[in-house]
Amino acid sequence: MYDAMSKAVLVVAVFVVAVMVNFRPAPALAGDTLYTALGGNEGIVRLVDKATEEFLADPRISNTFADTNIARFKEKLAEQFCELSGGPCVYSGQDMHAAHKGLKLRSRDFSALVENLQVAMGKCDIPFSTQNKLLALLAPMHRDVVTQ
Ligand code: HEM
Repeated sequence: MYDAMSKAVLVVAVFVVAVMVNFRPAPALAGDTLYTALGGNEGIVRLVDKATEEFLADPRISNTFADTNIARFKEKLAEQFCELSGGPCVYSGQDMHAAHKGLKLRSRDFSALVENLQVAMGKCDIPFSTQNKLLALLAPMHRDVVTQ
C-alpha cells in the first residue's frame, strides 16, 4: 500500500516537473531584444555619442554638464542603455538618485533631455517603435532624477 502511494506520488511529481519544464517561458531569442533593435553595442555607443552632442548643444541644459567628465558619462550611459535593453552589460555607475541629486533638476530639464534623446534617435535612424520602447524604460526614472 505504502509502495503504491509512493509510486503514485513519484509519478505525479515527475508529471508536474515535466509540465513545468515544458511550459516555462522560452528564453528571449538573441534577435528579439530591444538591445538588438538598437543595433547592439555599436548602435548604443553611436546613439549615446549623438545624444550627448545634443545635450551639450542645448542651452536649456548644457550648463548642467559643465563640471562633468563627459567620457565617463557616455560610458556609463551606454552601459545603462545596454543593460536596460537586455544586452550583455552590467551597469556600474551610480544609482539615478545619487547621480542627479546635486543637480537640482526640474521636470522641464527632464523633458529637454528626453527631447534631445528623441532627436538623436531620429538621427541614428532608430524606428519610432524602438524609440518608444527605450523611452518607456527611462520614464520611471523621472522620480529619481527630478528633485525640484
Ligand atoms: C531618464 C533620464 C536620465 C538618465 C537615464 C540618466 C542617466 C545618467 C547616467 C547613467 C549618469 C552617469 C552616472 C555615473 O557617473 O555614475 C548620469 C549622470 C549625469 N546626468 Fe543623467 N540621466 C537622466 C536624466 C538627466 C537629466 C534630465 C539631466 C540634466 C538635464 C542629466 C544630467 C546629468 C549630469 C550632468 C550627469 C553627470 C553628473 C556628474 O558629473 O557627476 N541627467 N545620468
